[in-house]
Amino acid sequence: MMPSAALDVTNLCITIGETEVVQNANLAVGRGEVLALVGESGSGKSLTALALLGLLPRAARLTGGRIRLEGEDIARLPERRMRALRGRRISMIFQEPTAALDPLAPVGRQIAEALPGASPAHIVAMLAEVGIADPGASARQYPFELSGGMCQRAMIASALIAGPAVLIADEPTTALDVTIQAQILDLLRKLAHERQAGILLITHDLGVVADIADRVSVMYAGRIVETAPVWELFARPRHPYTALLLASIPRLSDTPKAQLRAIDGNVPSLTELGPGCRFAPRCPLAGERCVIAPPLEDRGGNHLSACWHVDRLP
Ligand SMILES: Nc1ncnc2c1ncn2[C@@H]1O[C@H](COP(=O)(O)OP(=O)(O)OP(=O)(O)O)[C@@H](O)[C@H]1O
Ligand code: SF4
Ligand SMILES: [Mg+2]
Repeated sequence: MMPSAALDVTNLCITIGETEVVQNANLAVGRGEVLALVGESGSGKSLTALALLGLLPRAARLTGGRIRLEGEDIARLPERRMRALRGRRISMIFQEPTAALDPLAPVGRQIAEALPGASPAHIVAMLAEVGIADPGASARQYPFELSGGMCQRAMIASALIAGPAVLIADEPTTALDVTIQAQILDLLRKLAHERQAGILLITHDLGVVADIADRVSVMYAGRIVETAPVWELFARPRHPYTALLLASIPRLSDTPKAQLRAIDGNVPSLTELGPGCRFAPRCPLAGERCVIAPPLEDRGGNHLSACWHVDRLP
């Protein structure tokens, strides 16, 4: 999709039991770019992220698609080879940094684990780069001695020290208070550009999207329904689901509080999905054609959407 994509995911399918909980998902993240993946709870965002890292839970199976990391397909690598990539060429930060850090090891030592052979000076420099004050002292501290925001910075240091092509951040700021949240997002954006890493940022907060993303992919019930540059998506959504989400936001300047929960109905139970458009039960534009799943089509301007009735949108 993108010539210099750090990550290029095509037709990713993830199955739990008999159900394709993620179906033909396409995503691409360029170097230095932040792609936000948004969608309601249960839409398949975290499973997608875990699949990219080769860390799907036991119940879930990768049943289709390609995952290209800098051109190399890593979808079906043996675990031994995935382990060598994880944290080095593709890394991840989580919602709860304190849960992801080992409480029994000093922060500096944990960062060193991400890049064996890194000198103490390199580790301290990395801690400084993520905005940790007094990085020399902090390297010797244990996670419980640091605030949540500082722990998240340490996680980011650990995720980036090896210079990965891709960083996946699954709701990285939800556990932090609003001021710290904004600082961490600024930091991620800055580091993506400076270190030329592609960031896949998973969030259900449109304010976060507006603040940090270059492009956005919207996931609904396991399918990508729209992908566009961020302002293009906000200005001119080309899918009824996105349009409804945005219509529920009074003004863009109010987006910091906007969560993706404000539209009527619920994400359908994934086990009850038919073959047609998965948004049909909630869609005000649904018609006869929608019993067939709409393909993700190019609407011009690097804007893709999956809907039969785009022409009926304003
Ligand atoms: N380990 C698991 N076993 C069984 N079902 C699972 C498992 N993990 C996820 N699922 C199901 O897969 C679907 C997608 O889950 P996923 O965690 O990817 O959603 P999400 O978009 O990350 O949601 P949230 O915003 O709440 O984090 C959901 O229906 C969920 O119930
Ligand atoms: S394809 Fe049909 S049901 Fe699906 S979003 Fe478009 S109009 Fe709505
Ligand atoms: Mg999730």
